[in-house]
Amino acid sequence: MGDLLRRILEEHQGQFVSGREIGSRLGMSRAAVWKRVQSLRRRGFGIEGARGAGYRLIASPDVIEEADLISRLARPSFWKSILLLPVTDSTNRRAAELAEKGAPHGTVVCADAQTAGRGRFGRRWESPPGLNLYVSLLLRPPMEPLLAPQLTLVTAIALAKAAESASGIPADLKWPNDLYLGDRKAAGILAEMSADQDRLRHVVIGAGLNVNADLADFPEELRKTATSLRLQAGRSFRRVEVLAFFLDAFAECFDEFLSGGFAALYPEWKRRSFLDGRRVVFRYRDKDIEGTVMGVDENGALLFRRLGSQHTERLHSGEIISFAR
Ligand code: BTN
Repeated sequence: MGDLLRRILEEHQGQFVSGREIGSRLGMSRAAVWKRVQSLRRRGFGIEGARGAGYRLIASPDVIEEADLISRLARPSFWKSILLLPVTDSTNRRAAELAEKGAPHGTVVCADAQTAGRGRFGRRWESPPGLNLYVSLLLRPPMEPLLAPQLTLVTAIALAKAAESASGIPADLKWPNDLYLGDRKAAGILAEMSADQDRLRHVVIGAGLNVNADLADFPEELRKTATSLRLQAGRSFRRVEVLAFFLDAFAECFDEFLSGGFAALYPEWKRRSFLDGRRVVFRYRDKDIEGTVMGVDENGALLFRRLGSQHTERLHSGEIISFAR
């Protein structure tokens, strides 16, 4: 009920809406409306009340609440369990713990802040509170472990779709797991799996998306290369909205992937693959190799041509550490 009142106030975009109108939409008295307003205020909403005019919303806390999130999902049934935490060490770690305890396929773990956010290759992922999205998806897909790395690319496509739906800005993808906006990194993905020899037990896919961070919120060494949706669009975003876009896009991409393989999503990758034709440095096991990105194939492997070579290699792991801007 509190969320319906909030929706009504949000619909009026900072304009007054009368107690009578709210009461008739919620089917309650004006005194009961006042009580609901008080309860929203206690949750951090700034609501101005004026005799004769009614109520208007002047500030909302950017908190993700489960009922609000679920009400925004077009495909809520895909997600079996949603855990929203104020703070945790790492949502990937938390999701892996839940997996060991038998949590189902389609479990979401999202935190407002992380104290030990993990990036690829043992790096740290900066995770300050109140600004960005840190979310991990626990999946138990019926497939061989060999195909699991393709899930990173599937997730990157879903993240790109979500960023685009929220901001209207085209997103670019850097193989295998980075989302770029205007030549700067706005998001990364860390997939961790647990498998027997030929059976995937579970996969945890963690995504960190910079939503409202300012340059000053990044550590000094990232300020020349990192960005956020807000920095690119020039306005703030409700994180719950971006998260809902992501969960819906993921559910759709995942189903396409299960029925048609990565090939079904290949065009979605290809049109966002922004390093094609560019000179890069590729790092594989501490070895740096110069060359040109030729694209990505229909299995999700990177097509790479070493400097001076006419032969295109298919690379399945490693990282592009720098590229010509
Ligand atoms: C990278 O680009 O290096 C990958 C970054 C992945 C960060 C996300 S934030 C949510 C999830 N929990 C973690 O500890 N890491 C991932």
